[in-house]
Amino acid sequence: MTSGVAPRVLRGRRAERAVLERTVADVRAGRGRALLVRGEAGVGKSALLQYVAGRADGARIARAAGAESEMELPFAGLHQLCAPMLDRRDRLPDPQRAALAVAFGDAAGPAPDRFLVGVAVLSLLAAVSEEQPLLCLIDDAQWLDSTSAQTLTFAARRLLAERVGLLFAIREAAAGPEWRGLPELRVDGLPDEDARALLDSAVPGRLDAQVRDRIVAETRGNPLALLELPRGLTAAELAGGFGRPDARPLATQIERSFEQRMRSLPEPAQTVLLAAAAEPLGDAGLLRRATRLLDLPAGAGAPAEAAGLIELGSRVRFRHPLVRTAVYRAASPAERRDVHRALARATDAA
Ligand SMILES: Nc1ncnc2c1ncn2[C@@H]1O[C@H](COP(=O)(O)OP(=O)(O)O)[C@@H](O)[C@H]1O
Ligand SMILES: [Mg+2]
Repeated sequence: MTSGVAPRVLRGRRAERAVLERTVADVRAGRGRALLVRGEAGVGKSALLQYVAGRADGARIARAAGAESEMELPFAGLHQLCAPMLDRRDRLPDPQRAALAVAFGDAAGPAPDRFLVGVAVLSLLAAVSEEQPLLCLIDDAQWLDSTSAQTLTFAARRLLAERVGLLFAIREAAAGPEWRGLPELRVDGLPDEDARALLDSAVPGRLDAQVRDRIVAETRGNPLALLELPRGLTAAELAGGFGRPDARPLATQIERSFEQRMRSLPEPAQTVLLAAAAEPLGDAGLLRRATRLLDLPAGAGAPAEAAGLIELGSRVRFRHPLVRTAVYRAASPAERRDVHRALARATDAA
């Protein structure tokens, strides 16, 4: 489960790719590795995790992603990561297996000992890696529930000779104590040349050189900003009049741009976006049932797809988590209530 859409070409990033390649090579060679891929929203962390997934021939990929709406649910993130591996739990010693069962709600009991859950996760990852190297890609780690973050970083600090890699993408603002001291790959904006090339690929027609340099400077090479912010500019601005420098933080500017794009859509499409934003799991069937309960016609979401804000495939995927944030933030409390009610009823109906 990734957020965002993988770029067709990853521009630049030679140094970053080299670090990732080395990490994967170490894992294959039986040197367990943990890595925090750290940087601001839109800088390309998910794209780099996707790059790893593409370089992992013969390895097993396990994924999880933190979700803002699940931060209060203990072990939600860990469960996402581990659920597909649970067929291996019979390899674990009884106390570890019991701790996992309680953590994941498969057995009743008092809250399990955190240490035991951490050890159990480590054993589970190790058991899986006996068959093939295991790369765990955990996106948006800033939104992991705290028990999952603690358990996974516990495991990350104890990887030794297992063929296990734990790679986390995390926004830089999020820096709880559990993340401290783990190896980091800092991701900054693209260098000017790569940024210019990405910008040119995003803007139809020729871009005035001064405007281009200015956008590159103001976005500090942030790929999402490069792809998104020019959309808010008129043809005249793109041709050279790009005016007022914008003092707002980049993430806010990007969110505003997504919000404008959303507001230009027909109302039913906006409602579909809001319902999708309120539904954390990307469950397409659930979203379809909810939109029916909201009396929206089939295909109501198509304009939002055409605008590139969301993919409504077998899973629902926002173009970037900032789209979700922008959509949710832009809605009124009453609008949010309506979609939450529809989602709740759609869940019951399943
Ligand atoms: N090196 C790159 N070359 C081309 N496009 C990129 C690159 N890095 C990121 N992108 C694109 O920029 C957008 C934001 O990247 P993403 O990985 O989602 O950022 P983050 O996960 O850090 O918020 C995505 O559309 C992604 O495809
Ligand atoms: Mg991301």
